[in-house]
Amino acid sequence: MVGVRALCAGLAALLLLVGSPAQATLLDFSPAERQRILQHGPWPPPPALDAGNAVAGRPEAIALGQRLFFDVRLSPDGTLACVSCHVPSLAFADGRPRSTGRETLARNAPSLWNAVHQRWYGWDGATDSLWSQAIGPLTHAQEMAGSGAHLRALVQGDAALACRFRQVFGADALRDDETALVQTAQALGAWVGTLVSGRSAFDRFRDALARGDARAAAAYPQDAQRGLRLFIGRARCATCHTGPMFSNGEFADIGVPFFVRPGVVDPGRHGGITALQASRFNLLGPYSSARGDAATKTRHVELQHRNFGEFKVPSLRNVALTAPYLHDGQLATLADVVRHYDQINLERLHADGERILEPLGLSEGERGDLLAFLQTLTSPNASTRPATPPGPGSRRCPA
Ligand code: HEC
Ligand code: HEC
Repeated sequence: MVGVRALCAGLAALLLLVGSPAQATLLDFSPAERQRILQHGPWPPPPALDAGNAVAGRPEAIALGQRLFFDVRLSPDGTLACVSCHVPSLAFADGRPRSTGRETLARNAPSLWNAVHQRWYGWDGATDSLWSQAIGPLTHAQEMAGSGAHLRALVQGDAALACRFRQVFGADALRDDETALVQTAQALGAWVGTLVSGRSAFDRFRDALARGDARAAAAYPQDAQRGLRLFIGRARCATCHTGPMFSNGEFADIGVPFFVRPGVVDPGRHGGITALQASRFNLLGPYSSARGDAATKTRHVELQHRNFGEFKVPSLRNVALTAPYLHDGQLATLADVVRHYDQINLERLHADGERILEPLGLSEGERGDLLAFLQTLTSPNASTRPATPPGPGSRRCPA
């Protein structure tokens, strides 16, 4: 009898050990750590509109931009649209190291999720608004190789599209070739500006911490909690990847090679500032609706030698979906990126400012924890926003 009872107790204990799910616990985050974690939210942030874009937020403009995004006729040979390199099922990136238009480009296509919450566009920040960013791919010979003249003729020859342009831009619609280019870009910017991703496992954890709900917070995986502790602490990632976007919106040098091909380098931010200041499509230019403070960042940007070889600090939201990584896709996996920071080569750091980075000496387990954390930033679904009805007096256009 006793023997049987002991056996049963033993079995029960064994079952408990084997069968129970891993104990959900919350790490003992210090008040300072909690505060740093909270800075990465809440999500989504307050709604933002594409800077300097007079039609941003207008339902008719958003609907027009959505059509244009998928329309290959925007390229004169009818083969390329925005969607060729920004694929919805790939988080609006393209999964290639470097994008291919009519030729292979020097850079990797970034995700378009949450782009409206960035300060600068392109890896070098050569543009200061979503709409002006679209002008590059529309016109570059390597990309869609179009022009204002091509776009104007295309829209004028398509009654449904022409009606929609008039709906959005009124009497000014398609006034001349350059206006047609700008208006196409503004409609595209209005739509891309609505792409805000939903909430991730990290966001649920962060909000549970914020309201002091230890039980809900404990549901966040342990390895991700340890990785987050490294991210905001010893690994110093959050020095640059900070705020709700996991980016400080600026540019930095993390010691990666920046050769386009032997003997040719990508000047990064240095080239970006030069191009931004020379562009008539920037926030200070004649097509921008930005007034007052809205163009301050562009007015005050200054070219410095250290900008050479700096690239934008990318947002890490949905980063697990957008391999390969870095401005030219030179690292294939997130594990490769973590290893890069772990074993950083200080001699490669060329800009003078990055005193933040040093080899981290992480254990294999710690590298795994960082990876587990990065994977909790995934949320490929759109953030739900109330749909805006068409504006008053909007005319109906043929389908
Ligand atoms: C041939 C491939 C290709 C096509 C076509 C293309 N893009 Fe891109 N896109 C890229 C690449 C590569 C970058 C990074 C550019 C850089 O760093 O200068 C980029 C960057 C962007 C960005 C900035 C994102 C960020 O985080 O900085 C936006 C916005 C964007 N594209 C929108 C568009 C729109 C709108 C269209 C259609 C007019 C379009 N793209 C067409 C490849 C492409
Ligand atoms: C000094 C600022 C800085 C620090 C610190 C930093 N990063 Fe970055 N991070 C960048 C920049 C800049 C890039 C883009 C570099 C490029 O494309 O050449 C980048 C790229 C990345 C990417 C690739 C994202 C993509 O879409 O291609 C990941 C992932 C990443 N960092 C994670 C981390 C982690 C994890 C840490 C901490 C171990 C960290 N970063 C520390 C500035 C920083």
